Amino acid sequence: MAELSTDHLLGIKYITPKDIELIFSIADNFKEVINRPIKKVPTLRDVTIANIFFENSTRTKLSFELAEKRLSADVINFSAGASSVTKGETLVDTVNNILAMKTDMVVMRHPNAGAAAFLSKHVDAKIVNAGDGAHEHPTQALLDAFSIREKLGDVKGKKVLIVGDILHSRVALSNIFCLQKLGAEVRLCGPATLMPKYIESLGVKIEPDFRKALEWCDVTNMLRIQMERQETKYFPSLREYTMQYGLTKKILDSLDKEIVVMHPGPINRGVEITSDVADSEHSIILNQVENGVAIRMAVLYLLAEKIKR
Ligand code: CP
Repeated sequence: MAELSTDHLLGIKYITPKDIELIFSIADNFKEVINRPIKKVPTLRDVTIANIFFENSTRTKLSFELAEKRLSADVINFSAGASSVTKGETLVDTVNNILAMKTDMVVMRHPNAGAAAFLSKHVDAKIVNAGDGAHEHPTQALLDAFSIREKLGDVKGKKVLIVGDILHSRVALSNIFCLQKLGAEVRLCGPATLMPKYIESLGVKIEPDFRKALEWCDVTNMLRIQMERQETKYFPSLREYTMQYGLTKKILDSLDKEIVVMHPGPINRGVEITSDVADSEHSIILNQVENGVAIRMAVLYLLAEKIKR
């Protein structure tokens, strides 16, 4: 039986193209399972998983919880705001208390980059990074690449554009690693103030002209402008951002080819994309959400295979 090369999923940077293909092939099976009338399998019946979220989430939290329940795992949910973290308990103490209740795996979202890697060194459980600050969001990148593969047949050779707030985006970084590992070409577009200085050293090109970038790509991934991470103002106003980088149906219809539109969510409708684009036949945004459950089932299944029992 093939297995992952790592004991945790901390980031796409730390896994191999073979790992990604393995996750995809298992996710293909789970996608079939979750579309059956009986959507549940007993695979993780004796595994307990804690979802610990120190930051807000809709898609990732619900998707992991559903993936765990579809696999018949026992699930506990922890939200920092309603916990003893507010009384000053440390991350390691908090998680060790959760693990003392015989928990096997921890899915964690945290506002600080490196939190998942730190936790993996200090506690005895499999750790899945559900987003750590502006660092990585590995399951988002996996479900994005899986959705491109589903829509276009393959990721290899595809031209993928990522637009917007690259500086604050864990989705962008994980997508760059994932798409490149699968043989896609990646370009970035957005305000120069939202492009990290190092980003071209990762082998991506920056195309400052949004129209040219759209003409180049097969797929465009429209990132959310992350107001909550912007203490400084990186562009004059949202209106000006939208005028320069917002995707409208008019722009899409004026291109001489069809492109696939993605968004990791949550969408700021009328900012990154208009509603008629988000809800159009070009958009695979809800397919991304559906595929997220199958991808997370695959990741949890493969990491659970590594638990010594
Ligand atoms: N895509 C994503 O991570 O969404 P949430 O913040 O709602 O989990």
